[in-house]
Amino acid sequence: MLAGCAGSPSILEPRGPAAAEIANIWWLLLALGTAVFLAVLAFLLFSLFRRRRTLPDEATTNRTGTRIVVWAGLLAPAVILLVVYGLTIRGLRVLATPASADELTIHVVGRQWWWEVRYPQHGFETANEIHIPVGQPVQIVLSSPDVIHSFWVPELHGKLDMIPGQTNAYWLQADAPGEYVGECAEFCGIQHTKMAFAVVAEAQTEFTAWLEQQRQPAPGRPLGPVENLALEGQQVFQKSCMICHTVKGTQATGDLGPDLTHLASRRTLGAGILPNNTGNLAGWIVNPQHIKPGNLMPPSDLTSAELQALLAYLALLE
Ligand code: CUA
Repeated sequence: MLAGCAGSPSILEPRGPAAAEIANIWWLLLALGTAVFLAVLAFLLFSLFRRRRTLPDEATTNRTGTRIVVWAGLLAPAVILLVVYGLTIRGLRVLATPASADELTIHVVGRQWWWEVRYPQHGFETANEIHIPVGQPVQIVLSSPDVIHSFWVPELHGKLDMIPGQTNAYWLQADAPGEYVGECAEFCGIQHTKMAFAVVAEAQTEFTAWLEQQRQPAPGRPLGPVENLALEGQQVFQKSCMICHTVKGTQATGDLGPDLTHLASRRTLGAGILPNNTGNLAGWIVNPQHIKPGNLMPPSDLTSAELQALLAYLALLE
């Protein structure tokens, strides 16, 4: 049973103020639950032990019984529930109020089964990877065009649903730099379990450099003498991929799938399920249905030469 508590991500290892608030309430509930359990156990043992020794008269038993019902059955639960209720309301207020004014807003769109991540103040979008500056509250705006998803980064905050036709928002803050696992917490179809993302919290200078890099369009034509293969790959891309994908700075403006302008800079493929390297990318392009059945991307019928050229092109999209 305890093995289930091991490993990251855990709500009991909070790395941000919101998650810390939630963890505190969790520990309090555990403490209260344990106290009540031990008290009931003590009463049980006490009554068993006493019965065996003497048998008191009926009137005393009735009086004691009434007292126990009033104290342990009514007053104690009422006090405990009121305390928990008060702390929960306080927690909700803390979670709704950011530590300081907003600097950065990130729109996250839940899709079957990946995450579109937009930085509206900076005019770019990416997928399945959310970079934030460490130690600063960031506003996260959530929506969904298809079904209900739920945005959850256990070490940073609680779950918040992404509901079609509705926009939800909350604050995310990481107190330590690092990569935090995020996942979809609402069953949303056959690949719900493979709908992960990463929140990368980094120091302000690294974060600014990342923003700057992501803002750039893809390298334009000509790519240079050594990248002839990549040029061929770009043609393959325009023939086979651009109906669904965008590469900023080129003719590709499809929006059914993730924006690939900086694909090569991302850590994972397929919403957190594979490390982003050439082999996995090739496998994904050839038959994404094998890796993630039911997703919107169809298998491709590229020749191996076309595939090699396409991979060379995609590798340039850093
Ligand atoms: Cu998206 Cu579960």
